[in-house]
Parts: sequence; structure tokens; C-alpha cells
Amino acid sequence: MLQTQRLVLRPWAENDDKTLYRWASDPAVGPPAGWPPHKSTDESREVLRQILCRPESYAVCLRCDGVPIGSLSLHFSDVSDLARAEGECELGYWLARPFWGLGIMPEAAMELLRHAFEELGMERVWCGYYEGNERSRRVQEKCGFVPQWTTQDVDMPQMHEKRTGHVSVLTRQDWLARRAAEK
Ligand SMILES: CC(C)(COP(=O)(O)OP(=O)(O)OC[C@H]1O[C@@H](n2cnc3c(N)ncnc32)[C@H](O)[C@@H]1OP(=O)(O)O)[C@@H](O)C(=O)NCCC(=O)NCCS
Repeated sequence: MLQTQRLVLRPWAENDDKTLYRWASDPAVGPPAGWPPHKSTDESREVLRQILCRPESYAVCLRCDGVPIGSLSLHFSDVSDLARAEGECELGYWLARPFWGLGIMPEAAMELLRHAFEELGMERVWCGYYEGNERSRRVQEKCGFVPQWTTQDVDMPQMHEKRTGHVSVLTRQDWLARRAAEK
């Protein structure tokens, strides 16, 4: 379990299915990240089993009530197209719409990045967003990610469309420099 001033990051559990469905059925949440809105609590339970209940995948919860309001995870080479080498992973996230604009995801992501670099010994964390997703671009900018390249016509099998994808990276060196500057 990881903690910040306002948040607890804890593993997802299968009985989070109703809460997950509540947020993930919102058409504003999944599609910008590349997945369709959930259609039933059964679908949410299946997503918990197959995708969310695994190591380094966290439910983002407010400290005051412990209920999940978003998701944040590190993906390794088994599931990530970006993190191909040893010591690399990819950051992914989404947040329930009522909580947007409060700086919650940057706060959660900075703690998971600390964990990735300081406790997991990562050298490089990748992150991406699709063209037009300014909110996600800002999260990456606030966390210190540096833009790398843009790819046209990225296939989105779950969305049945192609998009333009932007990729950025945060290196251990940049992370350490940022931490030193903060002190
Ligand atoms: C991307 C996302 C996680 C941002 O989380 P967040 O905690 O709201 O992040 P922030 O509070 O730092 O806000 C980021 C930007 O969103 C915009 N924003 C602010 N308030 C907003 C609101 N009420 N509604 C919509 N957007 C808002 C602002 O541009 C803000 O940047 P700023 O701080 O420079 O003003 C969230 O919007 C989300 O889950 N979106 C859908 C899923 C998604 O896109 N996931 C990422 C896939 S790459």
C-alpha cells in the first residue's frame, strides 16, 4: 500500500466491482484512454480479475473513506509495447469524472513514480496519451515526463479506430534531479 497526503493506493479487490462499474461506465473515462465504457458489473468484475488485480496495479482511494475513485498502474514488458527492456515500465491511469481537476492523479502518479524508481529500481518509466487528451498531457507534464515521439494511425482494436499517439518518458536521472531541486 502507498500513501500521499490525500490518497491511499491499494490493490484492487474483486468486490470493488460495483464501484468500478460506477466510474468505468462513464463514457468520459475509458474512451480517452482507449477502452470502451463498461456495460455491466459482470464486465467490471471480469476486468478486475483479468486486468486490475495484479502486482503494481493500484486502486486510487481517498484517505477519508478508502473507496476507489481511479486506477493507476505500472505495466511491464509482458503487456507494454513501450517498456521493452529490463528496468523499464509504462504508467497508465484514469480517474472518476467527479474528481477531475483537483490534482489527484499527479499526486498519485508522483508517489507511484517514487515507488518505481526508489523501491523497484526502475531506470525509465514511459507514458503515452492520444491526440486531444490535454488532461492526460498535463498530468505527464506536471510529473516531469519529457515528450519523445508521435505515431500516426495507432490501431485501437477495442475502439475500432485509429488515433495519433504521443509518447513521453521519465528517466531515473531526471527523477533524481527533480527530487534534489525540490529539497
Ligand atoms: C487524465 C486524468 C487522469 C487527469 O486527472 P486529474 O486528477 O483530473 O488531473 P489534474 O487535476 O492535474 O488536471 C489535469 C488537467 O485537466 C484539466 N481540468 C481541470 N479541471 C477539469 C475539470 N473539472 N474537467 C475536466 N478537465 C479539467 C486541466 O487542463 C488540468 O490541467 P491544469 O492543472 O493545467 O489546469 C483524468 O482527466 C481522466 O481520468 N481522464 C480520462 C481517462 C484518461 O484520459 N486517462 C489517461 C489516458 S492516457
